[in-house]
Amino acid sequence: MARLNVVVGITGGIAAYKAVSVVRALVLAGHDVHVVATENALRFVGRPTLEAISRNPVHSELYEGVAEVRHVAIGQAADLIVVAPATANTIAKLATGMADDLLGNSILASTAPLVVAPAMHTEMWQNPATVANIATLRARGVTVVGPAVGQLTGKDSGPGRMSEPDDIVAAALAVVGPRDLEGRRILVTAGGTREPLDPVRFIGNRSSGRQGIAIALAAAERGAVVTLIAANLEVDAPASISVQRVGSTLELADAVAAAAPDADVVIMAAAVADYRPETVAQSKIKKETQGDSLDLHLVKNPDILRGLADTRAPGQVIIGFAAETEQNDAKLLELGRAKVARKGADYLVVNRVGWTEGFATERNTVLMLSRAGDIVAEAAGTKQSVADSILDLLSNPA
Ligand code: C5P
Repeated sequence: MARLNVVVGITGGIAAYKAVSVVRALVLAGHDVHVVATENALRFVGRPTLEAISRNPVHSELYEGVAEVRHVAIGQAADLIVVAPATANTIAKLATGMADDLLGNSILASTAPLVVAPAMHTEMWQNPATVANIATLRARGVTVVGPAVGQLTGKDSGPGRMSEPDDIVAAALAVVGPRDLEGRRILVTAGGTREPLDPVRFIGNRSSGRQGIAIALAAAERGAVVTLIAANLEVDAPASISVQRVGSTLELADAVAAAAPDADVVIMAAAVADYRPETVAQSKIKKETQGDSLDLHLVKNPDILRGLADTRAPGQVIIGFAAETEQNDAKLLELGRAKVARKGADYLVVNRVGWTEGFATERNTVLMLSRAGDIVAEAAGTKQSVADSILDLLSNPA
């Protein structure tokens, strides 16, 4: 997605502290973020925090920057405005078109899409005044994200909690992003499988699930209908995407087999164990009975990707991943070419992994190979931007 000028309006609710993560996610996604905070918002979260995270000055005063006509300039320059959190008071003001502060002026002076993420106590959210105001905003084309149901600031819980920052950002970018995957049914696997040894132990890998989640989110933003099958994620899965949790390779294989026939595209980003213990002990393996050594006998797991490629319906696109520790570029390419031929995938995304690379990091560097073994694209950057480059393979097939 092109770099956007995004105005993040922050209003005076305790969820303002979570707005910092909204700003951060937008910056990491490559956008130019300008925070307009109400005076009350700055009681909850400090200006230096927002300036450091947004990498831009934070504006809140209506009578500052008058010479540059700031009260309209900010809104006019915006490609997208996200208000998070949006208090009941701000929602009421927006519904009536009031502009008694810089944020209200910026919004009125803008033709950019407006996304609001309400946050308030349940009683306020359900108050007929708020209900009517939200209906007014929706009728005007404003996108309302959430609120979620959950623990509120006090001891109470219910609808009113601000949606999670990643979900707000996904919904906001979906409003302005390309919809080039509209309606395509995309199945994504993410995370790393764990092969049980006994009820408390497993053999696993260091995949965090970040790249797969980024692909799932980016695909949803671009209009796809996404199913995520997640194995042992280290990070939260986005609430906006339907997630099926699995643990072991055999569970992943079953879940993929059930979901793949309904998918136009399968993206196998999960790190799948090649072997599993032949037998799983039904109680904890004890060193007292094992003595000084313990032999594990492993058997090969089914190759899910290969099986998918062998049995796919005509037209289904299959993208596999190859995580390799090979340091030499030419040899890495050779490994990738051999793998894409062996697996029968349409594309293979090749990346380097190691003690400090690939897994569990925020960034990634990948090569994308076609079935014929040609390098069709390369990408380096945040896992979000790499996700978009991978999905470009679907809208502009090589
Ligand atoms: O052979 P390798 O494990 O390097 O292949 C990686 C690709 O194959 C990934 O897309 C992974 O999800 C998939 N895979 C699989 N089933 C396995 C092993 C890997 O689907 N048993």
